[in-house]
Amino acid sequence: MKNDLMDKIVSLAKRRGFVFQSSEIYGGLNGCWDYGPLGVELLNNLKQAWWRSMTYCDDIEGLDASILMHPKVWEASGHVENFTDPMVDCKECKARFRADQIEDSECGNKGYKGRKAAKCMEEGKFTDARNFNLMFKTYMGAIESEDSIAYLRPETAQGIFVNFNNVKESTRQKLPFGIAQIGKAFRNEINTKNFLFRTREFEQMEMQYFVKPGSDEEIYSGWKERRLNWWMDLGVKKEKLNFAPHPADKLAHYAKAAVDIEFEFPFGFGEIEGIHNRSDFDLSQHAKFSGKKIDYFDEQSKERFTPFVIETSAGASRGFMAILCNAYDEDEAPTSEGKSEKRTVLHFHPKLAPIKCAVFPLVNKDGLQEISHSITEDLQKSFKVFYDESGAVGRRYRRQDECGTPFCVTVDYDTLKDDTVTIRERDTMQQERIHKDKIKVYIAEKMS
Ligand code: GAP
Repeated sequence: MKNDLMDKIVSLAKRRGFVFQSSEIYGGLNGCWDYGPLGVELLNNLKQAWWRSMTYCDDIEGLDASILMHPKVWEASGHVENFTDPMVDCKECKARFRADQIEDSECGNKGYKGRKAAKCMEEGKFTDARNFNLMFKTYMGAIESEDSIAYLRPETAQGIFVNFNNVKESTRQKLPFGIAQIGKAFRNEINTKNFLFRTREFEQMEMQYFVKPGSDEEIYSGWKERRLNWWMDLGVKKEKLNFAPHPADKLAHYAKAAVDIEFEFPFGFGEIEGIHNRSDFDLSQHAKFSGKKIDYFDEQSKERFTPFVIETSAGASRGFMAILCNAYDEDEAPTSEGKSEKRTVLHFHPKLAPIKCAVFPLVNKDGLQEISHSITEDLQKSFKVFYDESGAVGRRYRRQDECGTPFCVTVDYDTLKDDTVTIRERDTMQQERIHKDKIKVYIAEKMS
């Protein structure tokens, strides 16, 4: 049943233009996805909500660092040495598996559909595990040699660490302060899976908060709560969120403590964001590898030290998928004949909804289209608005419900008399009559 639900969400995502397979006409490219017209709006709204919550304050600055960085960055960060997954190959069907995920995998041989990969392992079909580095390697410039190797960044964080001095000096920030960034990251995952959950190209929304050593544990706890609340404020149901702390023996090479915020997808709980106490690992490593001083002088205590870093690292792509799964629902809606019919609806928070409002003329005559166009054009100065004059109003509602549009405005014969319209709310399906000049304020209030 849960797989069935995931299939329905993936199918809706394609049908309504949220997500398409990358290079679909060529058979697709594994682990890569394209955001369609509604998807790009939803993704941008999610990123914008994050950006505002992070940087529209006194103590967090924004940054947009380049994807390609000096190769030494990845030596200093430990990625060249440690950013690996253990991989095994099946000697029979040649499928590749992450050695630590065999239990969740199926045999790659199409003739054995449904057979567990663990069974093949028991039968000795797999090679010994070997480490596979997940960074995509390329070459900078015209000559392909060891000296021209460059990597596509596997996380955005390193762009922030190498700019610590620049941001501190240009903004005159005092500890504690943070630097936030949204951007693409690339990982050559051995097994991509579950739609947008594990892909090879994805976007992260990361914030590194630089703190005085000793204050790190308290600030780490504070950020844990703050980040969980942020997801809930966007309408993610509390019961679908979970903290999963990393046990000490599973911590990443840079972490002193780490916890995942997990969301319950149709296939089970999975990480959407990591909160990490990275200690002074990153700044110390970059100071060592670059030969530059990277530290902080505390005017009050007259101490010089390397700040600790509390990191909040959310996936924009995975977050997008969580928002989509969280919003998906099937319920009943009344028809014009007084019956009820099944409807598929996306209950997005109005702030995230790709289209904020749809405008319909009740009929396509007697000047109702002209008024509808004029309302649409006026609203489009503030929001993404969709005009629709095709089919019965009930059908138009159903289409907008599937797109997650929170408000639909219908222009009818009463509009000609008193300039009022019907505004219908997606979740309650309640309708009220308001003056057409009040629509903008009405929607803005609901969004905030
Ligand atoms: N800077 C720390 C860091 O990158 P991470 O736990 O490896 O930590 C953070 O990644 C977030 O990035 C994850 O919580 C997830 O949302 C997202 N993410 C990581 N790998 C991903 C992948 N292959 N596909 C989609 N999202 C991914």
